[in-house]
Amino acid sequence: MVRTSLDLKLRLALYGINQETFYYAGVFWRAILPEFDGIINRFYAHILEHQKFRKFIPNPAMIDRLKVTQKAHWDRLFTSKFDDYYVQQVVATAEAHIKIRLPIYFYMAAYAVFLDELHAAAYRNFSEEGNDVVAIVKAINKMVIIDMDLTLSVYMKGLVGLNSNQAR
Ligand code: HEM
Repeated sequence: MVRTSLDLKLRLALYGINQETFYYAGVFWRAILPEFDGIINRFYAHILEHQKFRKFIPNPAMIDRLKVTQKAHWDRLFTSKFDDYYVQQVVATAEAHIKIRLPIYFYMAAYAVFLDELHAAAYRNFSEEGNDVVAIVKAINKMVIIDMDLTLSVYMKGLVGLNSNQAR
């Protein structure tokens, strides 16, 4: 089973992802949802601005569809609590990028762009007194880093078994 081969239970424990993390991830996601289309638009503007990124988009007409799948991805990450469908989609998404031969560092650079945006959104929405912005930022970091980690593990399929054997 995919979630077992990705050692999801162990990963969540190692990251310290728990009910509190899910709570703050959900609070954050609901608050920033109205601004997320703006974040996505800036992300694809960045991709299209750079020729090296752009060449991995075979047809600019596909951007509208990618915006929809991209948003669905972040929605699953922040709300699904890593259910089976999330795991299935992480695998499918990583495979889609392997198919277009997107180098890992391009993928990670894209996550960096999203992390900047998510942190900025956290401060915009939660920096006033009474809000626990630190708890929100911690939840964002854990969610984004584990998503990157799972994606990388699919990229490096051959190493997944080795990593989990070493961890036991
Ligand atoms: C934060 C990083 C990224 C995330 C979370 C992400 C997310 C996704 C998702 C959810 C899909 C749909 C997968 C499916 O159909 O099952 C997708 C497809 C795709 N992504 Fe990304 N993406 C990222 C970075 C990039 C970058 C940097 C590029 C190119 C420069 C890119 C190009 C594409 C292309 C071309 C497809 C369509 C592949 C196909 O349908 O054959 N993505 N992405």
